[in-house]
Amino acid sequence: MTPEREAQPRTSERDDTRTEVEKATTGLAADALWGLWQDPPTLPTKWLYDERGSRLFDEITRLPEYYPTRRETAILREHSADIVAATHAEVMVELGSGTSTKTRLLLDAFSAATPDSGRFTYVPVDVSSEMLTTTADVLSADYPGVEIVPLGADFTEPDLHLPDADGARLAVFLGGTIGNFNPEARREFYQGLAKALSPGDFFLLGTDLVKDTGRLVAAYDDKAGVTADFNRNLIEVLRTGLDARGLYADDFEHIARWNPGEHRIEMWLRARRDIDAYFEVLGRAWRLPAGAEVHTEISTKFEPDALRDELESAGLQVVTVWTDPAGDFALTLSRR
Ligand SMILES: C[S@@+](CC[C@H](N)C(=O)[O-])C[C@H]1O[C@@H](n2cnc3c(N)ncnc32)[C@H](O)[C@@H]1O
Repeated sequence: MTPEREAQPRTSERDDTRTEVEKATTGLAADALWGLWQDPPTLPTKWLYDERGSRLFDEITRLPEYYPTRRETAILREHSADIVAATHAEVMVELGSGTSTKTRLLLDAFSAATPDSGRFTYVPVDVSSEMLTTTADVLSADYPGVEIVPLGADFTEPDLHLPDADGARLAVFLGGTIGNFNPEARREFYQGLAKALSPGDFFLLGTDLVKDTGRLVAAYDDKAGVTADFNRNLIEVLRTGLDARGLYADDFEHIARWNPGEHRIEMWLRARRDIDAYFEVLGRAWRLPAGAEVHTEISTKFEPDALRDELESAGLQVVTVWTDPAGDFALTLSRR
């Protein structure tokens, strides 16, 4: 699932507009000061992924309406061996790795191709530290021949550093998470990644494709209400993280709608009543009238040709594009 540039600024960009006090504030407090008093209010999407949010997202991936995970898994099941053969990578770095469930298909294929213990390294990168640690422990037990090196980091930070390797490196970004960025943020992200990769390294990108609006909206507004809980959990993150009074998740309604001009699903939280909250940590009141909306996430859907142009403009030459039989999702392998 996926925010836009305005909702997920790099630190360097945000520094230009922040006061000295705001600059001294870090983490959730800084992002709340930056985003909650904007019109419309917003927060970077990464704050959706605390421990509970990560668990809820994992639940979302198994919902009948949420087709992207099943489609991407089908492509990986069919083509992981092709990815190994095309890249011969010795290190795989996965950005926003979550539970690394689908990644197991790649780990199986790379392990089979590099039977020498310790010759293949997997670096899962995620902001959700609990999920990252648990996943890394389980993977270390399940893949004794693979070196697992978990890295708690924000992949939107500039100067992304990838571990060195003698052979090729493969950066992996699955789940359609790239859709969380708006076009400007995507451009910066691809450029940053291209800078971090060396010539001959590879990038494997999972993208959800444009399709019927009804299916798209249903995938972000499921009948069981799990995505609604996932979205409203952001209010809990704010309440507990910033020690808020007068702020309750139940006072917000989950909204998912298709923005046809931008080719994206947008998630919002609409106030069911007047909100009159106070953040102890910020020493500030936050007021929203009933009906006002907080922007929480975007999930852009792609056209394959436009995606190719975006990657190639950043110096990432497309090698192969695989889609599932229904043409719902694409995995694009490109080379620096
Ligand atoms: C849509 S989920 C995808 C998870 C997994 N890759 C998949 O395909 O199912 C996005 C993942 O990225 C992580 N994430 C979100 N924003 C991040 C950021 N700025 N830096 C690092 N990880 C982030 C979340 O914690 C979550 O695990």
